[in-house]
Amino acid sequence: QRVGVFQAGGLSSLALGVWLREQGVASHHYVADLGQSDPDEIADLVASLRDAGLPASVVDLRPRMAEIGLDLLRYQARHDGGYWNTTGAARLVLVEQLTPVLRADGCTVLAHGCVGGGNDQRRFAAYAREFAPDLRVYAPWTDPDALERFAAGRGAMLNAVKDAGFFLDRGSDADRSTDACLAGASHESSALEDLATPVDAGSLTPRWSVYPSEAPAQAETVAVSFDAGRVTDVDGSGPDPVDVLRTARDLGARHGVWLRDVVERRIIGTRCRGVYEAPGLEILDTAWQRVLEVCLDPHARGLYQSLGPVLGAAVYEARYASPVAAAARAAIDELVRPATATVRLVLHRGTARVAGIDAPGVGHDQQTRFGTGGNRWREPIVGLR
Ligand code: ARG
Repeated sequence: QRVGVFQAGGLSSLALGVWLREQGVASHHYVADLGQSDPDEIADLVASLRDAGLPASVVDLRPRMAEIGLDLLRYQARHDGGYWNTTGAARLVLVEQLTPVLRADGCTVLAHGCVGGGNDQRRFAAYAREFAPDLRVYAPWTDPDALERFAAGRGAMLNAVKDAGFFLDRGSDADRSTDACLAGASHESSALEDLATPVDAGSLTPRWSVYPSEAPAQAETVAVSFDAGRVTDVDGSGPDPVDVLRTARDLGARHGVWLRDVVERRIIGTRCRGVYEAPGLEILDTAWQRVLEVCLDPHARGLYQSLGPVLGAAVYEARYASPVAAAARAAIDELVRPATATVRLVLHRGTARVAGIDAPGVGHDQQTRFGTGGNRWREPIVGLR
């Protein structure tokens, strides 16, 4: 048997590497490039695994991740508190894209390091059933022997990972955990678990962003273009979804537009506090909301707004491939077909606001005429002659 490990480079997946090596189990470590970190960090992780005798390879999943990331925007698939559940989206991409690779390499087991009780363990199980029912899923934190090995907790994992010489993701240590992809990052930590702890530079270092007070004093104006509901350009990025999301992320990050501080309910019902950093989706959404207001009629918008939460829940609960989610996506793609426009956005110290919109498809008669045409508007008079 050969175990294919979804190697995220965080503390628990590296501890899984230690554990499998100690058990003498043959494993291959798949490091997905989801745009979570710089290429040299990914290379360092792979090199450290290989140095420790664990075969490892990188699989570039950025194109699919970017596509799904922009779907979150178009489908308004937000979760509790309105945040972008980029973690749930990344789990879909990982299982959908990596399982064919595992299979081709002769792996019969899929292993991941997600800790018990969290959502990701559920998501991996659900998507594996869906996309790869032939693979067995091994989650070490449901294995009593692995649990006993690291019974002392994350501190014990950290020691083992350091002893093995593994390169640890910069968002992860004994006290905190960051999950990231091109579309955004989510942060959890023991400090943030205390609901009295404010989110600030003392409690959290964002992955890409600055806090609004550290953002430039000078505002920046950028253009965002949409064609039939899809982003086709951000500040000269061109239409490639990877370029769109990277450009939008860097702009939002630089101007401090990102912070969402949420207490949510996990799939199993427990509460958890997370901080969500999706600077790209945050600024794109400000533009997108104006496009919807201008380009969709009220009935279309009403139906559209009712479908977003359906997909938000599907992403969170790993039902993105279900018939319900597919139907909602198809309906939205139909509804947003008139959404073609270019929006100018002003980014400044934690905010994104609309400076203007150019929507070529919207007729002159449909546009607002404040104080002049609007107030004098009458029903047309239809006479008998
Ligand atoms: N609560 C979010 C979710 O379930 C984020 C989890 C993030 N995980 C992490 N290790 N930081 O999708």
